[in-house]
Amino acid sequence: MERHIQRFLNKVSFVSFTIATLILVFLFLQTPETCIPPNAPIKPHLRFPKSTCDSSPRHYLPLPKKNARLWSSKTWINQVSSFTQFFIQLYHIGILKNHSKVLCVSAGAGHEVMALSKIGIEDVTGVELIESLPLVSRADPLNLPFFDGSFDIAFSGHFAEALYPSRYAEEMERTVRKGGVYLVVVDACGSEEVKEIVRLFKRSTLVGSSNVTMNGRRVTRIISRIRASN
Ligand SMILES: *[C@@H]1O[C@H](CO)[C@@H](O)[C@H](O)[C@H]1NC(C)=O
Ligand SMILES: *[C@@H]1O[C@H](CO)[C@@H](O)[C@H](O)[C@H]1NC(C)=O
Repeated sequence: MERHIQRFLNKVSFVSFTIATLILVFLFLQTPETCIPPNAPIKPHLRFPKSTCDSSPRHYLPLPKKNARLWSSKTWINQVSSFTQFFIQLYHIGILKNHSKVLCVSAGAGHEVMALSKIGIEDVTGVELIESLPLVSRADPLNLPFFDGSFDIAFSGHFAEALYPSRYAEEMERTVRKGGVYLVVVDACGSEEVKEIVRLFKRSTLVGSSNVTMNGRRVTRIISRIRASN
């Protein structure tokens, strides 16, 4: 009697195993129907992802049109003009030259990149976690994809928001050549706070800090030079 049951159970498990295997094979061979075929003739601006497996890029507006709209907005123009004033001051104190190679870290949508280009700096690179082409390309500020000493100047207007400030500082310093400068702008602060920030940059010497206005708010501008020897 018991042997009978045993044999029956064996049969059941064999059948279940076979069915499960067949289902797996079937699922494996099946193309999920929820995926949109790559060249489906759908108007681009009406196109929304139907499922998570739709990995094709989605442009609701062609990039040049989108940029034209953004760059003609009032806030954009005001912010670029504020950055322009800011960089012209650096031009006057001799920190910035036309031939300077400038890196903007955490450049957002690229206001500062545009401002620098406008005042005649030819070699400007903007990076941010999310790209905004053509002004800003994608890169991790904590792991910059540039060789040591690639730039004359590194600028960041978002140093205070860095998740790992010392790593952020290390990367900014690494990508600037010896004798070059890094430049950060933070909410207006006193000399103790400036000292704390400067301490994170281990290979530089403070050139100076001062309070200036940027985009309508008071900020402290910190300029330091990368030492020729460590
Ligand atoms: C730097 O570029 C600006 C704008 O193109 C130009 O007016 C200025 O003469 C240039 N300065 C030098 C020193 O070449
Ligand atoms: C800059 O502004 C901060 C905050 O208002 C102030 O504490 C500090 O003394 C100012 N620094 C200078 C150099 O004026």
